[in-house]
Amino acid sequence: MPGRELLGVEGLTKYFPVKKRLFLSRARSFIHAVDDVTFTVHEGEIFGLVGESGCGKTTTGKLLVKLYEPTCGSIHLDGQDVIQIRRGARLREFRRRVQMIFQDPYESLNPRMTIFDIVAEPLAVQGVRSLVEREERVADMLSKVGLTPPETFMFRYPHELSGGQRQRVAIARAMVLGPEFVVADEPTSMLDVSIRAGVMKLLLELREVLNVSYLYITHDLAVARYMCDRLAVMYLGKVVEVGPTEEVIQEPLHPYTRALIAAVPVPDPTYRREPVEIKGDISAPIDPPSYCRFLPRCPIGDVTCESSPHPSLKEVRAGHFVACHRL
Ligand SMILES: Nc1ncnc2c1ncn2[C@@H]1O[C@H](COP(=O)(O)OP(=O)(O)O)[C@@H](O)[C@H]1O
Ligand code: SF4
Ligand SMILES: [Mg+2]
Repeated sequence: MPGRELLGVEGLTKYFPVKKRLFLSRARSFIHAVDDVTFTVHEGEIFGLVGESGCGKTTTGKLLVKLYEPTCGSIHLDGQDVIQIRRGARLREFRRRVQMIFQDPYESLNPRMTIFDIVAEPLAVQGVRSLVEREERVADMLSKVGLTPPETFMFRYPHELSGGQRQRVAIARAMVLGPEFVVADEPTSMLDVSIRAGVMKLLLELREVLNVSYLYITHDLAVARYMCDRLAVMYLGKVVEVGPTEEVIQEPLHPYTRALIAAVPVPDPTYRREPVEIKGDISAPIDPPSYCRFLPRCPIGDVTCESSPHPSLKEVRAGHFVACHRL
């Protein structure tokens, strides 16, 4: 660890316009869902994105797989400018290399398609004409995701499978083209607690077998701790802390990360921390002020924070970055 840089994200920003309620008002408002986010993911790495609901995790993931166009910023895959890829063969090639697994396996699979058709579809799009080859590759992939023997699954429909089996089908579909980078957006959060560990283990195994790197999105710090090599903590569209997983969980530096970890027990018997209260509620970042976004809830914020722009990330220890004026 770590390998070469696979994905480089710089200044990534996505604003969504807010529907106008007062027709008299001329000014447009925007939700700053992802705001000036910078990070890198290395080959073979699992890079975690954590934070409360609404902080911009899914939007970041969708930007990386080109389901959204960014407002500004850059994304590079192996040095290649991803935002410039628009259509045709280059977009097909990008789809082969980068895939996404969604949170809800009940919504992400077409109910009218058989498991074979669902997993084979990306192969067909990529021009694998031979039915025999498609069958072989789908069977191989179903075995790899633990749906064995594959023949018993191929011609069934999603509604005949359990949530865990459906998520395995979604994983097979994402992995069948041998991608290098996969965005996994809370892939176990909708599943029964008893089967979550199995799906997480599978994703870890596939990293080794298929040499794939992940952006792993979760709001669950215990899951992040189990899955991720490094973590980025997001708060209202901003990354506030980045570092090696164990360091961020055991020695969080940013007041938000500290509060997040204090609020949620992270399973480790040796771990003890005095609780820190997070005041107030998280709100949507609509036309946010220029000062630190955490100020309204920050227990150590002061007048300097209010009169300064939102702090940028700075490296306070090797590989451990924090965005706070007071650290
Ligand atoms: N398509 C969209 N249109 C308008 N607002 C959106 C859209 N998608 C997300 N948002 C808003 O952007 C913010 C970030 O959302 P999201 O990325 O889904 O967060 P998370 O995945 O961390 O819960 C939220 O305030 C959400 O309401
Ligand atoms: S910059 Fe100020 S308000 Fe923001 S997290 Fe640091 S201390 Fe708190
Ligand atoms: Mg989400």
